[in-house]
Amino acid sequence: MIDGGGGPSWPGDVLIVGDRIARLGEGLRERLPDGLVIADLDVIDCRGHAIAPGFIDAHTHDDAIVLRDPACLPKLSQGITTVVTGNCGISLAPYATREAMPPLTLLGADSFRHATMSEYRLAVQAAQPALNVAALIGHTTLRFAAMTDLTRAASSDERAQMARLLDACMAQGAHGLSSGLFYEEAYAAPADEVTELARVVAKHRGVYATHLRSEMETILDAMHEAGDSAFAAGVPLVISHHKCAGPANWGRTRETLPLVEALAKRQQIALDVYPYVAGSTVLREDLVDGVIDVMLTWSDAYPEFGGRMLADIAAEWSVDQKTACRRLKPGGACYFQMNEEDVERVIAHPLTMIGSDGLPHDRHPHPRLWGAFPRVFARYWRARGLFTLEQAVHKMTGLTARNFRIVDRGVLRANAMADVVVFDPATIADTATFEAPISASLGIHRVVVNGELAYAGGDPEPRTLACAGRMLTHKSA
Ligand code: ZN
Ligand code: CU
Repeated sequence: MIDGGGGPSWPGDVLIVGDRIARLGEGLRERLPDGLVIADLDVIDCRGHAIAPGFIDAHTHDDAIVLRDPACLPKLSQGITTVVTGNCGISLAPYATREAMPPLTLLGADSFRHATMSEYRLAVQAAQPALNVAALIGHTTLRFAAMTDLTRAASSDERAQMARLLDACMAQGAHGLSSGLFYEEAYAAPADEVTELARVVAKHRGVYATHLRSEMETILDAMHEAGDSAFAAGVPLVISHHKCAGPANWGRTRETLPLVEALAKRQQIALDVYPYVAGSTVLREDLVDGVIDVMLTWSDAYPEFGGRMLADIAAEWSVDQKTACRRLKPGGACYFQMNEEDVERVIAHPLTMIGSDGLPHDRHPHPRLWGAFPRVFARYWRARGLFTLEQAVHKMTGLTARNFRIVDRGVLRANAMADVVVFDPATIADTATFEAPISASLGIHRVVVNGELAYAGGDPEPRTLACAGRMLTHKSA
């Protein structure tokens, strides 16, 4: 049994009664040998397997998919039982409009329909997803709601409007604020626009997560900006999908991680990361440098090109890659913009949590959507030995629950909520690849969400067995 706290594992059983863990312990073994027990339902034989808290995906864009496809198989099949939504500045709530919006490509949504956090909560409850949802509120979404021209800083009236909306969302159970200052809809926002909003979050004891203004040349400035905003506001900071992007910046985690440690001396700070050297986001010419490999994940104009390399498409068209990128937009891509040593340094860092950053609506998605969590075990624990098995689990459970203030989850203990994953440490592995990204992982034996058996690996067809997820409410007390 691995309890999620990072300490050594121990043999034992888990007794679940209703939606909670009733007891843990070796005393249960005599009656029910090596079993994870689900009262009134099933005894799961866990011999040779690890029993751990269900994984918490620290970084997702699952706001819309939990409504549209509540089975959530890409996540459930990795052992994930809770997703943190609303990252990178984009959340579905709080904004509703009848206007046809430019597609919210990260979310796969084509419209905003939830004017309040409560409306989004009701929608999630009605959809009954297989996973628990902990929602962040996006700064960019607040800008959509309060502003007409996103290419400038918010006025003081607009700031007040955003603060009011955010305050209501926090009161209605949101876990915090996210920003995506890198993206054009938020880039014009000065640091103090974000700091003011972070102060609202501080009042509710929430968290601030940010996709930094830059992950390239000026990443240290961007980290200082994020650190200062969070420190001034008095909120814990999460730096999203930490990376040093672009060949010119490879190796610079030797600068960024010491900066994180320096900031950690004055404020609560954490990182999340996905275990790949390729990032993925919308098609952007500034990310196409003709040097790194770029793989198309979707294109409205050329849907059949999903999964092809941009260089090949450009060659076929006899144009340069930036021109090809322009023709393919709107679309998405995987950018092979990272260096393996940097990825390893970030994953191994004790302040780092695992977040998939999966993009569930892409036609040919980055494999992190289906494979991120098992890949951490297969590649970075088993093959590379960067940390212990218990530390790997901690990065997916206890650490994440603590950073996002998700109570009673991410841990195995009596009276905690019964989110549990049973997996085989010897065989757990991702099977999703850049070529074939839609593929369930190996070694996930059983997944239990709120006391219900939600997934069983080894079935002929990976499928969701129960949809027992909940909208999680952040408690400010
Ligand atoms: Zn991001
Ligand atoms: Cu993201």
